[in-house]
Amino acid sequence: MAAAIMDSDALKERAAERALDYVSPGMRLGLGTGSTAAKFVDLLGAKVAGGLDVLCVPTSEATHKQAAELRIPLTTLEETPELDLTIDGADELDTELRLIKGGGGALLREKIVAAASARMVVIADDSKCVDPLGAFPLPVEIVAFGWQATLNKVRAVAQEHSCEGELILRGASDSPFVTDGGNYIVDCGFGAIAAPDQLAVGLSLLPGVVEHGLFIGIATAAIVAGEGGVEIIGEAP
Ligand code: A5P
Repeated sequence: MAAAIMDSDALKERAAERALDYVSPGMRLGLGTGSTAAKFVDLLGAKVAGGLDVLCVPTSEATHKQAAELRIPLTTLEETPELDLTIDGADELDTELRLIKGGGGALLREKIVAAASARMVVIADDSKCVDPLGAFPLPVEIVAFGWQATLNKVRAVAQEHSCEGELILRGASDSPFVTDGGNYIVDCGFGAIAAPDQLAVGLSLLPGVVEHGLFIGIATAAIVAGEGGVEIIGEAP
């Protein structure tokens, strides 16, 4: 009989389960956003119900709600500015642990929380592994004021780094998607990003750009689940 093919949901669950190996009692944790991170939060909630002592900072209102319902002890980065570990999903990752994030719109808080953490572990199914980054449209969070002018600048900077493609303001034109921070998101369909490190620097310099979804030098490990099992890229638990 042929082996059953696992759907991406089951693979995400598998990666989330393995992430528990990185968690120790007493840790201060960042909790990511998205469908994969939500699976980890569910599993963590069960551990907390069983007596695990952790203190967590959510990266979005959605994750805050989920974690609060599970009675996971929560804090803020104002109260707890240094975290031990963040567990989060990604839209894409490459072998150098560079990421595209923000498909769920939470990239700003996700990056702040991950940067405040000694370690960041990405959990993903293997469809997220790419080379090069860029098939997933790169989310760029911009201030609502003057958004069209900022979008034009994003396009110009991208062209300087050999990135061309459609730039789309997320949501309907008369009611754009608004992030937890009150900003808009431009999804940049580059197809391939030849030099993510340089593009990241260029985007960061633009007035009106709040943050972009390129996470460079932030993730310390990735747990990637595929049909053949789970692979760890980077730091072991
Ligand atoms: C949220 O803003 C994103 O960065 C998510 O982490 C990313 O989109 C991955 O989401 P899924 O786990 O739902 O694929």
